[in-house]
Amino acid sequence: MKIFIDSADIQEIREVASWGILDGCTTNPSLVCKTGRPFRDCIQEILSVVDGSVSVEAIASDSAGMIKEGLDWAKLDQSKVTIKIPMTVEGLKAVRGLTEREIKTNVTLVFSMNQALLAARAGATFVSPFVGRLDDISHDGMALIHDIVAMIDDYGFDTEVISASIRHPLHVIESIRAGCHVATIPYDILVKMIKHPLTDAGIKKFYDDYQKIPKQ
Ligand code: E4P
Repeated sequence: MKIFIDSADIQEIREVASWGILDGCTTNPSLVCKTGRPFRDCIQEILSVVDGSVSVEAIASDSAGMIKEGLDWAKLDQSKVTIKIPMTVEGLKAVRGLTEREIKTNVTLVFSMNQALLAARAGATFVSPFVGRLDDISHDGMALIHDIVAMIDDYGFDTEVISASIRHPLHVIESIRAGCHVATIPYDILVKMIKHPLTDAGIKKFYDDYQKIPKQ
């Protein structure tokens, strides 16, 4: 499973990129807003750090506007820029239009199999079901991931499923079990994924025992 960071914070992104495990980054207007930086500066810097797909949210509500935004962003780096398109009728048209222009898309705010099917049929590069936001309203977010991954595999779509709106490390484990192509993970959860008390205890024990070995 590929690992994207779900963040617009350049410090966090740089740090995780330095671990050598980063395949991409997803942003959204709320994440950029938290940084207090202008949208374009923020995205430009992320593109310079991340060696992979960088999702940038389209803001227009009509397909022509979304396609225009996509063409603009793609000028920065078409190999990385991925336009995040909301799951609407206009969004579907924009996905088709951008796909025809060889610009990658990530259909976002997906909460059902039907939405995922339509996104895949429109030619989306990625589809992002939001696990945590479904869990928040007492729906089983992970069950949706399992269903969508199975559908994509069964029908042989090229679209990759991004497990999004991840809230804790178990969401990542379940995404792996579901055979998800990508998980986009917030920084604090990536840090938690590294940690294990037995690893820490083992490191301490080996270090302490090393100190007790007679010096030559
Ligand atoms: C994904 O692309 C979104 O940016 C993100 O996962 C949304 O997560 P949230 O529900 O925690 O805001």
